[in-house]
Amino acid sequence: MIRFILNNKLVQSDDPPGMLLLDLIRYREHLSGTKIGCREGDCGACTVLTGEWKGGQVVYRPVVSCLTALGNVHQKHVVTVEGLNMKELSFLQQAICEESGTQCGFCTPGFIVSMAGFCLSENAPTHARALAAVDGNICRCTGYKSIERALSKVAALLRERQGDAMTFAVDHGILPAYFKEIPGRLAELSLQPNGVLHERKGSRFLGGGTDLYVKDHAGMSQADLEFLSTEESLKGIVLEEGRCSIGGAATVSDLKESPIIRQAFPHFDQYARLISSTPIRNIATVAGNFVNASPIGDLTVFFLALDASLTLSDGVSRRELPLRKFYKGYKLLDKAPEEFIEKISFPMPDKNERFHFEKVSKRTHLDIASVNTAMQVKMSGTGTIVEGHLSAGGVGPVPAYLTKTSSLLKGEKPDSHLLARVIGAAQQEISPISDVRGTADYKRLLLSNLIKAHFLTLFPHLPVEDLL
Ligand SMILES: Cc1cc2nc3c(=O)[nH]c(=O)nc-3n(C[C@H](O)[C@H](O)[C@H](O)COP(=O)(O)OP(=O)(O)OC[C@H]3O[C@@H](n4cnc5c(N)ncnc54)[C@H](O)[C@@H]3O)c2cc1C
Ligand code: FES
Ligand code: FES
Repeated sequence: MIRFILNNKLVQSDDPPGMLLLDLIRYREHLSGTKIGCREGDCGACTVLTGEWKGGQVVYRPVVSCLTALGNVHQKHVVTVEGLNMKELSFLQQAICEESGTQCGFCTPGFIVSMAGFCLSENAPTHARALAAVDGNICRCTGYKSIERALSKVAALLRERQGDAMTFAVDHGILPAYFKEIPGRLAELSLQPNGVLHERKGSRFLGGGTDLYVKDHAGMSQADLEFLSTEESLKGIVLEEGRCSIGGAATVSDLKESPIIRQAFPHFDQYARLISSTPIRNIATVAGNFVNASPIGDLTVFFLALDASLTLSDGVSRRELPLRKFYKGYKLLDKAPEEFIEKISFPMPDKNERFHFEKVSKRTHLDIASVNTAMQVKMSGTGTIVEGHLSAGGVGPVPAYLTKTSSLLKGEKPDSHLLARVIGAAQQEISPISDVRGTADYKRLLLSNLIKAHFLTLFPHLPVEDLL
């Protein structure tokens, strides 16, 4: 039995845990404000909030309900656009109306829900964050300026905020009053037996579902699933004996919010913005990205350059494997069906280490890469590269750690000669093919230029004209 609070109502469902949340909302609960656009996570029309009881408070995040399994909202609070309604228009609805932010109205519920997610975040309510909050919502008819104006109004009100985000939102007509009772109700729900999710182990692992549901909506609803995203033990991001250890079910948003990741990669926000959109990042897991084995997986390419290791477990025994050895061929993994990725770890970078990630796609945002690459170097006090790692995606059948090219970096002083050798070696190591993301020649050119971008960023003392 899956139990969760849907808006103000407790839902107890014996539907299959793989059933889509969107289908339950629309076809069982008849809440048709949540729209179906693409059913692939791209448009945001189906956005809902999920609130999770964490560390004594409820943390809300927008997610796409068209890729979210019922099992993944067990013991959570799910908020649809109907759950934001009050007697009068809410502050958010009023702002959208006043600024003419809606025409056909199909996308509007998704925007309103994402805006509510922004109001429930404890982060400082800057204009940039307000815009970023709707980065997963597409509107094809109003143009975005009117929606941006509405967001500005909301951000301006939030800047008066004192105290916690939820209380402020309720007290200022942004959210209905029942939100104040949700923490107590969720805490109570979390004490009840977890039901079917923990009683049996499924034969197929599910993280956020952002790959699996896009591939096979129909098959997934009846699939025998093991829900890894509900396992708190698989979500931690901790330091262990000088290594950063990340649970396989940690999401991109978990990485973004982790003080350890922010310390290791001060530009992580900038990289994360290039990966999918807010409601996808909130559910997409690190291990899901690795196991999906897409040659252009962004997190995979990111962690390959850190020479990260995987801990694989079958529930009884564990083994360690360098991520670069995980890929044996196109979508072919060194992994038994019963093994799951328990954690990913890499040496915590110190002040001598520098890291940079680059991605080129047809659109800057909400698009998969044509080519992506990351580079890490460890420098000596005299400006020599002690050790270097280079990864590249989109230039072969698997996301690649460029072994020979990486070994060239060791013991060298960075300069234009080294750059030329690195580019030459990388070109020997890759085997791109022509496809919808670009021709093989174009991808070769992209990688060469992105390696130049790595050098420009990692060695800012080098004269730009020497490197171009
Ligand atoms: C709209 C949209 C935009 C996207 N944009 C990007 C993008 O910009 N960059 C990018 O790289 N990807 C992108 N993706 C792809 C996807 O979001 C990522 O690959 C994501 O990290 C997959 O994680 P998940 O938890 O959703 O995987 P799931 O769909 O849950 O699972 C994927 C695979 O991993 C397996 N699995 C999951 N967890 C584990 C585990 N712990 N151990 C073993 N196996 C496991 C599953 O069985 C399945 O085979 C996008 C997807 C969508 C829908
Ligand atoms: S229907 Fe388009 S994101 Fe869900
Ligand atoms: S108002 Fe029509 S698509 Fe957004």
